Amino acid sequence: MDVVATIAERYSVRKYTAEPVDEATLHTVLESARLAPTADNRQPFQLIVIHTEGRKQELARIYRARWFTQPPLVIAVVAVPDNAWVRMDGKPYHEVDATIVMDHLILAAASLGLGTCWVADFDPAAAREVLGLPDGVEPIAFTPLGHPDRPPTRKRRKPLEQLVRYERW
Ligand SMILES: Cc1cc2nc3c(=O)[nH]c(=O)nc-3n(C[C@H](O)[C@H](O)[C@H](O)COP(=O)(O)O)c2cc1C
Repeated sequence: MDVVATIAERYSVRKYTAEPVDEATLHTVLESARLAPTADNRQPFQLIVIHTEGRKQELARIYRARWFTQPPLVIAVVAVPDNAWVRMDGKPYHEVDATIVMDHLILAAASLGLGTCWVADFDPAAAREVLGLPDGVEPIAFTPLGHPDRPPTRKRRKPLEQLVRYERW
């Protein structure tokens, strides 16, 4: 599927089957995340692939929606701020980089027929503990990864006129 069609068809999947994700597909999804651009090409992130089997209760501490652990996999994108590029005014870009990585991963998954859902409303302390994150590593976002068990919902978005300005504010 071309990228414009994938963007139009991706939606937040909040119901999954238990069907496994094959290794080659997972590899393609992770590879797409790896190819994401990052500021100064610093790549200040790690992807954590989490198998949900036998860990559902523990993972529910991170985010308690049932669909979060329904598919066989959950992916976490964590940032490593010490490796990030920092703008001249001191703003570090690890969060931006990690977000682009997650978006690449999610769009690649959608193009391969897999479902995902951004999760930012997780418990950061539980995430640190369950994933054994060292100090200085920041969890940015999670997504379940699996086969959707629900058709797309209609997209609700502001019209372009409300979102685009030309030349200046
Ligand atoms: C940064 C970010 C964080 C999000 N966090 C959550 C979340 O914690 N839980 C959830 O159910 N959806 C979450 N979402 C999904 C949004 O609610 C969803 O993308 C939005 O409503 C648009 O719907 P769509 O993805 O189906 O097009 C998040 C999306 C983004 C981009």
